[in-house]
Amino acid sequence: MFVVRRNGTVRVWRDRCPHLGSPLPWRKDTYLNRAGDRIVCAAHGAQFEPENGLCILGACLGQRLEAVPFVLTSDGEIILTEYPHDLRRTSS
Ligand code: FES
Repeated sequence: MFVVRRNGTVRVWRDRCPHLGSPLPWRKDTYLNRAGDRIVCAAHGAQFEPENGLCILGACLGQRLEAVPFVLTSDGEIILTEYPHDLRRTSS
């Protein structure tokens, strides 16, 4: 997962490209393009709107990143309200 704080809004996205399921960053913890206005997938260069996760350029055009539900506390802390099932650890 990764968090985008931009223009006074916060979004939490799953770190998984809708094209082939690859992680997105092109460098550790680097999800946005140089201008800071698009999320970019390093694998094949798809670009996503940070506000709604919509792919606006590339191999998964029209698909969306998976939003991770959360609540934002008054002091800016992010608390996830759901955690993707396939990322949960199981005890053995
Ligand atoms: S895996 Fe992201 S664009 Fe192909």
